[in-house]
Amino acid sequence: MKRILNIETIDKISSKVKLAGWVNTRRNMGKIIFIDLRDRSGLIQVVFIPQELDQASQKAMKKIRPEYVVEIEGLVNQRPKNQTNKNLETGKVEILAKKLVILNQSKTPPFEIDNETLQANEELRLKYRYLDLRHKRMKNNIILRHQIIKTIRDYLDQVGFLEIETPILTKGTPEGAREFIVPSRLYPNKFYVLPQAPQQFKQLLMVAGIEKYFQIARCFRDEDTRGDRQPEFTQLDIEMSFISQNDILDLVENLAVEIVKKVTPNKKISVTPFPRLTFKQAMEKYQTDKPDLRKNKNNPDELAFCFITDFPLFKYSETEKKNVSVHHPFTSPKTEDISLLNKNPLKIMARQYDFVCNGLEIAGGSIRIHQRDIQEKIFQILKITKKEIQRRFGHILEAFEYGAPPHGGIAWGLDRLVMILANEPNIREIIAFPKTAEQKDLMMGAPSEIPKKQLIEANIKSIKDKG
Ligand code: AMO
Repeated sequence: MKRILNIETIDKISSKVKLAGWVNTRRNMGKIIFIDLRDRSGLIQVVFIPQELDQASQKAMKKIRPEYVVEIEGLVNQRPKNQTNKNLETGKVEILAKKLVILNQSKTPPFEIDNETLQANEELRLKYRYLDLRHKRMKNNIILRHQIIKTIRDYLDQVGFLEIETPILTKGTPEGAREFIVPSRLYPNKFYVLPQAPQQFKQLLMVAGIEKYFQIARCFRDEDTRGDRQPEFTQLDIEMSFISQNDILDLVENLAVEIVKKVTPNKKISVTPFPRLTFKQAMEKYQTDKPDLRKNKNNPDELAFCFITDFPLFKYSETEKKNVSVHHPFTSPKTEDISLLNKNPLKIMARQYDFVCNGLEIAGGSIRIHQRDIQEKIFQILKITKKEIQRRFGHILEAFEYGAPPHGGIAWGLDRLVMILANEPNIREIIAFPKTAEQKDLMMGAPSEIPKKQLIEANIKSIKDKG
């Protein structure tokens, strides 16, 4: 007999079936035992009555404990009306077990899997993430994430985008955070950098003539972890050629509406079309560039999307004592402000936009510079020396000289979007294997020391070894 899922039993009343999964809970009623069997489709009640079972199964029945892995053959019975369980999708049926095989035992887990609340301490949950992910709530978050990504892929494919992977071992791109570095074994004293975002690659794909690119892109930023930040996170990265700012905002709006419609139809979008406010308007009216425009701020099922546009191109950094980019240095100044590049950089407005939902920045992007002279000018204003410009950005400046089309794009913080749609308070809840606030992977034990041989091979001398 072929194993079927628990949920499939509801159409198989009076048939014999084979199920497999984990013992979620066990209840003894005298000689009779009830278990809730869990598999990826959910729970089902199984009844063990000794005289219905063969000898081996009767023995096994006495041994099973929560989280044991079992295989059960039995009869699907319809439950009497007064015994149906409305909380279970399979609540109208139960299995009368005829055979039980223990496929594997389990130690008592460090926390109850049956407990759907977040009572277990987070460190313990992250150390035993493979058990934590057995919780219905966590599993549902992982399913929701999958559905969101699937909807994005389908939608962008339909409107002509190509999904293209870009390198993880690369050179730095200035997104403003500290970079993770990877030593090169073959080239002593040389390093790869993990991408903070695929920014330069997607622009170079536009020079390559791709016109419509997207990627579900892993990004790395060595910055302090917070509720809406991880050192390793995922962007939905988008870039297009020959488009206006409004074309990008329209695409983002249509995609957001599609995701909500397909994946979380229970949620209500407050206003469409999404309000578009300038940075100045948002600051004057809400004193923030991430306003929460929900009518009822306590309603997690209300989604108030908005766009914030027209940011300044530069701001003065007191710590760095120089002008820095508000977004990143590839952002185009407004055409009418180009003349201010030499005179008053802080007055220049950018062709930059943010996408905000319920007070959280979901995405940010801009129309880019595609001319070498303007890009060089921006680097100069950022006080990057000629030599440094050539070292860090020579390749993209050169590319702009080979027919770079006008282009622009945006990147969504995919984790943040999933977090909002899952009604979760932080992004660790919607990432399968997240890092702690201290940037640790408690399950794998990363970061960790590595054998000296490996360090030598990678041409690294640890500071600890210095003296
Ligand atoms: P930006 O740096 O604004 O732009 O990032 C885009 C979006 O990514 C999300 N995000 C994060 N999510 C989780 N953890 C983090 N540490 C983290 N950092 C950022 C946010 C943010 O809105 N290359 C440009 C985009 C572009 O211009 O097209 C970029 O990366 O939701």
